[in-house]
Amino acid sequence: MNQLVVELGERSYPIIIENKGLNRIGGLFLEREIGKRVVVISDNIVAGLYAETAIDHLEWAGFEVTLLTFPAGEKSKNLKTVDRLFEQMISAKIDRRSTVVAFGGGVVGDVAGFVAATYLRSIQLVQIPTTLLSQTDSSVGGKVGVNHRLGKNMIGAIYQPKFVLIDPLVLRTLESREVFSGLGEVLKYGLIWDRQFFYEIGEKICQNQNRLDVESIEQLIQPCCRIKAAVVASDEKEWGLRRILNFGHTIGHALEAVTNYKYFRHGEAVLLGMKAMLYLSFRRHLLDESAFASATKILNLIPVPKIPRVLTSDKILDQLQVDKKNVAGKIVAILLDGIGRAMIEEDCSKAQISEAVNYLLEKYQE
Ligand SMILES: NC(=O)c1ccc[n+]([C@@H]2O[C@H](COP(=O)([O-])OP(=O)(O)OC[C@H]3O[C@@H](n4cnc5c(N)ncnc54)[C@H](O)[C@@H]3O)[C@@H](O)[C@H]2O)c1
Repeated sequence: MNQLVVELGERSYPIIIENKGLNRIGGLFLEREIGKRVVVISDNIVAGLYAETAIDHLEWAGFEVTLLTFPAGEKSKNLKTVDRLFEQMISAKIDRRSTVVAFGGGVVGDVAGFVAATYLRSIQLVQIPTTLLSQTDSSVGGKVGVNHRLGKNMIGAIYQPKFVLIDPLVLRTLESREVFSGLGEVLKYGLIWDRQFFYEIGEKICQNQNRLDVESIEQLIQPCCRIKAAVVASDEKEWGLRRILNFGHTIGHALEAVTNYKYFRHGEAVLLGMKAMLYLSFRRHLLDESAFASATKILNLIPVPKIPRVLTSDKILDQLQVDKKNVAGKIVAILLDGIGRAMIEEDCSKAQISEAVNYLLEKYQE
């Protein structure tokens, strides 16, 4: 078992990383004095694979469990799903001492986390992430929320869980497209924070003919959680440093929104956004040509669908204007001034962003 701590004063919490951790869930809940009533929120796929195990162990430890599910995928990440969950929880008389368990990938974590943050003005939350992306990124740090039809993640809160339980073994049932999508966020940590980590992953992917064996994937979890925990601990509310975690996300979110959250996986859209920001960093002479080329080569090892032909740069740029990271109409861009070194550009010109989007379309459009 590995344990890290997100240091946030009285809201500090552990990230427990443990193979077969799911089988110890009952004991872990008892140790942490979780109330008797537990609402497990999941999607239909994760629930089909793992809900029985989790619920059996919780019930065996004496918890009263209600399972609520919604259809898997980004299309469910909206207020309609939240409303349905509220209705089911009110009907089931879930009270303020109950705990929500977000059991699934990043979509479940964000939706169930938002439900926990707002139901009866907040009830306790435990995150049990089940995708590479959620085990290395989204379950840590307390960002929860849903999409609005006008923009990605526009409604939400920062609400920290009581603890995060990561069982790396559940990744073994993940489809390879989801593993690659998760690798997008993993590579992000290398690019913004740890040059050696970035090139090591690149080398491993290369050596394994663009695939990573399960053990190598499992080894990525702890370093990513460590970086995320450090960044969040220093800037929980994202007024400063935490913004570097958004590297590649402004264009990535725009790509997800203009394709109605149906075409790209989140990590895929972020990968494209990171390629655009690498290019912009190079054009701004922050990155030299060899760093730009070697980093792009590694990102290109991850398969990502081509950008649909119908998308124009105007459409992407229009969408980009509603990104919630923009302040007073200014586009905030996260750039690199070295591999492993992120910097925040508070007022990036529209012309520069437009150049980066055009580069992306030229290189990666079908
Ligand atoms: N809150 C944050 O800080 C934060 C950070 C990054 C991303 N996100 C959000 O995370 C979301 C993406 O998360 P995701 O990539 O995990 O997507 P996801 O939750 O949609 O999961 C991807 C797919 O994998 C399936 N799945 C999950 N676990 C499985 C398992 N163990 N075995 C088999 N199938 C499994 C799911 O049912 C789903 O179909 C986006 O909405 C993004 O905005 C949030």
